[in-house]
Amino acid sequence: MRILLFSGKGGVGKTSLAAATGLQLSRLGYRTLVMSVDPAHSLADAFDLQTGLFQGVANDPYLISENLSIHEVNIQKEIKRHWREISAYVISVLRTTGISDVEAEELAILPGMEELSAMMYVNQFRREETYDVIVLDCAPTAESMRFVSMPTTLEWYMKHIFPFQRGLIKAVRPIANRVSPVQLPSDNYFANIQDLFKRLDGIDVLLSNAKTTSVRLVTNPERMVLRETQRAFVYFSLHGLSVDGVIVNRVLPLAVKDAWFEHWRASQAKVLKEIDEYFAPVAVKRVPLFTDEVVGKERLQDLAAALYTAREDPAAIRRTEAPFTFAKRNGHYEVRLRLPFAAKGDVGLFKKGDELVVEIGTLRRHIGLPTSMASLMPARATLQHKILTVDMKEG
Ligand SMILES: Nc1ncnc2c1ncn2[C@@H]1O[C@H](COP(=O)(O)OP(=O)(O)O)[C@@H](O)[C@H]1O
Ligand SMILES: [Mg+2]
Repeated sequence: MRILLFSGKGGVGKTSLAAATGLQLSRLGYRTLVMSVDPAHSLADAFDLQTGLFQGVANDPYLISENLSIHEVNIQKEIKRHWREISAYVISVLRTTGISDVEAEELAILPGMEELSAMMYVNQFRREETYDVIVLDCAPTAESMRFVSMPTTLEWYMKHIFPFQRGLIKAVRPIANRVSPVQLPSDNYFANIQDLFKRLDGIDVLLSNAKTTSVRLVTNPERMVLRETQRAFVYFSLHGLSVDGVIVNRVLPLAVKDAWFEHWRASQAKVLKEIDEYFAPVAVKRVPLFTDEVVGKERLQDLAAALYTAREDPAAIRRTEAPFTFAKRNGHYEVRLRLPFAAKGDVGLFKKGDELVVEIGTLRRHIGLPTSMASLMPARATLQHKILTVDMKEG
């Protein structure tokens, strides 16, 4: 099974492009599901479905055509189903510690429950082998970042907190239930949590395996949007996800001659150049601004035609390695850069804001640094087996 994750700033065109990709995949014969993880769903709207019809089957995938289903995950319902019992208990415990009700309710919400629910579905579909490709239409960038960091957080909780809590409660229940102001949770409560985690088992491996999961970043040719896309690129790479495509949506078509748009064209050209430079060697695709909103299957098919050639397979595995990685060795930070080409010429290293810029011959690569390394300066670079290692030191 393949998972294609569409991420990007709000309004850039994630839903439209995810839907268009779903159409292309199903046309090629893949059993495809486009699943919306964005609480502000618009997938059904993109296909111009009558909402009544769609909502009648909400929370189950809805068949659009042969091989293509869409699914808007009903987060509220999911939260109720999986979390009510757990959070009710946590709230009651927190209250006894003197924390106000409001605070207790806030604290009891594990971050990323929405993402968690979506991941449970993905895992379920994988086990049941229902689909060949799942296209995830994600919430705007910040939330989809939570989505990918969730498994790590949970693992930590399960390893460190859960066994301790459960053991402790087993030991004290006989007396505590008589004296404690709150009823201690039944063992059932823990069984529930464990069941929940079982459902998520393996999802982290699934997400970080480039042969299964690929991230497609959607952006617009505008500076502000690009900045967010760059941050997302760094973040996904840091979490070991493979970004194997960038789609620049809403590029002004050449047919637009009106003087009014001259400035737009010039600034778009500049940003487009910057995008190509920044993301290389990740493939960058451009999609023109259409004459109208892209709504309904036919328009989405036009969008698919602008995005892919007739036989192009969006599920093809284009990259299996992260373009760069960050590491800490013997207390020193380093950036490792994979150079798939034969590198010739001197290596130039410098900083630009919180980016590390590496120049080799005529090639230039901008690497957004994680916060922990943003203040460091490049000290030296060594090239071995097509991997350039840059040592970072205090400036
Ligand atoms: N290339 C395009 N040309 C014209 N309109 C577009 C294009 N791509 C998306 N749109 C429209 O822009 C709006 C936002 O797109 P959408 O896919 O919902 O963005 P997101 O999911 O990122 O918030 C929708 O009305 C959609 O039809
Ligand atoms: Mg959307």
